[in-house]
Amino acid sequence: MEMHKFEKIWLTFGSIALIAFLIVLGVSAFYLGNQPPSCAVTLDPKKVDEHQLFKEPGLTEVGENEYQLTIVSSAFDYNVGNPEKVVEIPKGATVHISTTTKDVIHGFEIAGTNVNMMVEPGYISTYTNTFDKAGTYTLVCNEYCGVGHHLMQATIEVVD
Ligand code: CUA
Repeated sequence: MEMHKFEKIWLTFGSIALIAFLIVLGVSAFYLGNQPPSCAVTLDPKKVDEHQLFKEPGLTEVGENEYQLTIVSSAFDYNVGNPEKVVEIPKGATVHISTTTKDVIHGFEIAGTNVNMMVEPGYISTYTNTFDKAGTYTLVCNEYCGVGHHLMQATIEVVD
């Protein structure tokens, strides 16, 4: 079969690009362990307050320098377990963050860290992060969720 020169070039280019992308994807997934945030854990969004995990939001120590941080998102509030909306995390701690929403879709971004999740009704969003740098971080909603969207925030303090 006769093939035009340009067609051969493009076919080669396409094949190499495909192989390169698959290698990048493979290394990222299997060697570096990257995976999409889990969305497989579900709950009834009307019964968030009764859910075992979300009954008492806040920070709980679960191991040596390891914590579970549970936060209930709702329009237009993050319930972190205290009215000041401040979470104090010891520097270097590994924190397993779990959140869900009681109403609409919210964002969950701790600015300046890798923590950035979408919070969807009916699902529990989780992310594990190690806070290596002391400082004050702001938890913000980065999905437009209504008139109070810009008020939706909390403070994460990483302390020495
Ligand atoms: Cu919640 Cu925007």
